[in-house]
Amino acid sequence: MRKKIVAGNWKMNKNFSEGLTLASEVVNIVNDELNDDVTVIMCSPFIHLAQVAKNAQESDKVFVGAQNMSEHASGAYTGDISAEMIKSVGAEYVILGHSERREYHNETNEQLAKRVDLALEIGLNPIFCCGESLEIRESGKEVSYVCNQLTESLFHLTEDEIQKIVIAYEPIWAIGTGKTASSQQAQDMHKSIRDFLAGQFGQEVADKISILYGGSAKPDNAKELFAQPDVDGGLIGGASLKARDFVEIAKSF
Ligand code: G3P
Repeated sequence: MRKKIVAGNWKMNKNFSEGLTLASEVVNIVNDELNDDVTVIMCSPFIHLAQVAKNAQESDKVFVGAQNMSEHASGAYTGDISAEMIKSVGAEYVILGHSERREYHNETNEQLAKRVDLALEIGLNPIFCCGESLEIRESGKEVSYVCNQLTESLFHLTEDEIQKIVIAYEPIWAIGTGKTASSQQAQDMHKSIRDFLAGQFGQEVADKISILYGGSAKPDNAKELFAQPDVDGGLIGGASLKARDFVEIAKSF
């Protein structure tokens, strides 16, 4: 049985004290109210990671992730953060290839393949983001576009390695727009992703990989999204910035 996961991508939000308040609120509500076997991940900005990871130790359901990492192990890369640094503060996940980084930092599938390899080498679990623009969806080429992202960044991995990857399908036209993909649109793409993974790694392995939906997921639409057979949870942006909303989403399975 694959993991049910709800991950919060805080993006560039919350100063140090606000972030610690959010993290402790999430942990407290999870401990009091989350009964299902759901993995909750908080992906905070780097400044919070160490303390948020410490907070997360108070729950066996809450884990911590970074929002990015360098493809270099260490060295003269001013301003960058390494996989080893992320691991050293207690984080277990790292978001890679978020559409905002692909857009604003020109991240390529090839570069992301290197980051995936280094994350796995250090013992971090990548949350690998994929997703198409509105233009590509309107052209009807969304499946081939997303499958190419997977091919170029993940299909060099072994069967053991791919099982450590969490995939997040985030249609760019739904991110931060309030325009959520319909549950059928989400299911159709998730099924296409899983079938594509099965073609490369076999059905047994593909069935073990958690595929999350991201893009304006909220407490009022999460239940219908998570009811889809190939939707294994969500990667949550705006709604992760309020502890109550975020945990309500985690309770939506
Ligand atoms: O990584 C998750 C994010 O891109 C989704 O953002 O605000 O639409 O939930 P939001």
